[in-house]
Amino acid sequence: MQRLDDLLICRLDNNRKQSQPCTLVIFGATGDLTARKLMPSLFHLFCEEQLPLPFRVICVGRRDFNDETWRERLMESVREFAKHYDNCARLWYRFSTKIFYCKGDISDHSLYTNLHKAIAEGESDELKHNLVFYLATAPDLFTMITEHLSKAGLLNKDEHTAPNCRLVLEKPFGTDAKSAKQLNARLTEFLHEKQLYRIDHYLGKETVQNLLTFRFSNAIFEPLWNQKYIDHVQITVSEKNGIGSRGGYYDHAGALRDMMQNHILQILALISMEPPVSLAPEAIRDEKVKLLKSIRPIAPEHVDRLSVRGQYTGAQVDGRHLPAYRQEERVAPGSNTETYAALSLRIDNWRWGGVPFYLRTGKNLAASTSQARIQFRMPPPVLFASQCGPTLDSNSITLRLQPDEGITLRFNGKIPGLDIQIRPVRMNFNYQSEFGAYTREAYERLLMDAMAGDSTLFIRRDEVETAWDIVEPLLQKWSGRPLGEEEFYPAGSWGPENADALPARNGHNWRNPDLEPAE
Ligand SMILES: NC(=O)c1ccc[n+]([C@@H]2O[C@H](COP(=O)([O-])OP(=O)(O)OC[C@H]3O[C@@H](n4cnc5c(N)ncnc54)[C@H](OP(=O)(O)O)[C@@H]3O)[C@@H](O)[C@H]2O)c1
Repeated sequence: MQRLDDLLICRLDNNRKQSQPCTLVIFGATGDLTARKLMPSLFHLFCEEQLPLPFRVICVGRRDFNDETWRERLMESVREFAKHYDNCARLWYRFSTKIFYCKGDISDHSLYTNLHKAIAEGESDELKHNLVFYLATAPDLFTMITEHLSKAGLLNKDEHTAPNCRLVLEKPFGTDAKSAKQLNARLTEFLHEKQLYRIDHYLGKETVQNLLTFRFSNAIFEPLWNQKYIDHVQITVSEKNGIGSRGGYYDHAGALRDMMQNHILQILALISMEPPVSLAPEAIRDEKVKLLKSIRPIAPEHVDRLSVRGQYTGAQVDGRHLPAYRQEERVAPGSNTETYAALSLRIDNWRWGGVPFYLRTGKNLAASTSQARIQFRMPPPVLFASQCGPTLDSNSITLRLQPDEGITLRFNGKIPGLDIQIRPVRMNFNYQSEFGAYTREAYERLLMDAMAGDSTLFIRRDEVETAWDIVEPLLQKWSGRPLGEEEFYPAGSWGPENADALPARNGHNWRNPDLEPAE
């Protein structure tokens, strides 16, 4: 018998653009991102018959491969990184015939001439009319590739709603406000903004997309979603791991550039933006930008009061010795790069006036989690609240983006017994138990959308630039300033002790996920 819940499924498929036959060209194809994310995602989409037909991938690299040896090499990574490889291994051969290798150096114009030829040689004419160039390279190559593509006649600046060539860019988009603006200005010499698809893979996650559904398809939460009922908001994106082998990149980036400027501000925007007028990409992106622009700028003299940075030191964690950041591979021995950053922000609009937003992120912290906790105001100080005083907790909604994806509503309940004793209890929605184990890899959704020309989940130029403007005062203040003793924290902790002062100034405290009892 069909469940009532199933009869109530509301499909918005008509809202999604369908992919046309497509040629996807990946620059930097011999790199880590292609091996770990892009190819496993494409293979899975192929197995699910989601890829457009016909379809092909041209992989650009400077190493010595031909189509055959390249396909063999790719099979190894797909076997290692695709979650469902074993279930659909029999389809590998058919999938691999869609993959081609084009050898050449990105700085050499003959590569683009060869690419032009390779694109023209497709099995079907349709493949030439929907081109997606994916730049999975270091960002300093973005403009060089774009310029060469343009000169080779492979890009045409096109502002139609569905331009037939698009450029997908991996983050980081610049390293500060100035470089981001310069990069955008340069790219838009060759392409229209509508053709630029800037990836923030967080937006491809189911749970992040669910933030909009949760807010705008329910009537019970949205009326409470404002300064009248919400006391403050905490967003935590913490990682239990250190920087691993990424020292070369991370030591020039740090937590602010790596996580705060992009992922965390995106989560903040989705949680706090106004309802968009429609689900059209521009309508959603307009609201995100409006929200980001309402964040009160941090004046240089307030940086120390409104932010905290930190760096991990070595410690014994779970029986293992974790090295200090300064002892990690490819990190400068006296590095002042922050591996922890926390911020206290205000949103100066009608909905959020007076509500603090605390954001934090870090490496080698006590737990790996991405979550947003909406902490409600206390009930009026009468009845239970007047008797319990501060031991009565206020209600909260925790949106768990990963791991253990779901939503927890926390409210007060009476402990059974003759006395009246009250403690917080939880109602828990868990993705896995509700919908089954599989949550789609973020890149699958993003690749499909880029091929279909749906830019909803990609970052628009003004979003990137506004987000850089928000963190710029911190970048300037922190740059070159040696870390003080109080800014170090032992690996495995929740960050530097002075981070507690950030919410404490407003009478709040961090709610650490590992302090919550198991659901
Ligand atoms: N890896 C991830 O999980 C991840 C996650 C988020 C964002 N990203 C971003 O994605 C981008 C790529 O990351 P990645 O980890 O894949 O980097 P990577 O492993 O260093 O790969 C970079 C690729 O660029 C190629 N390349 C460099 N210079 C070239 C040239 N002159 N001509 C032709 N090819 C050239 C390299 O080729 P060779 O192999 O010949 O050196 C390599 O294939 C970066 O912007 C990164 O920030 C990566």
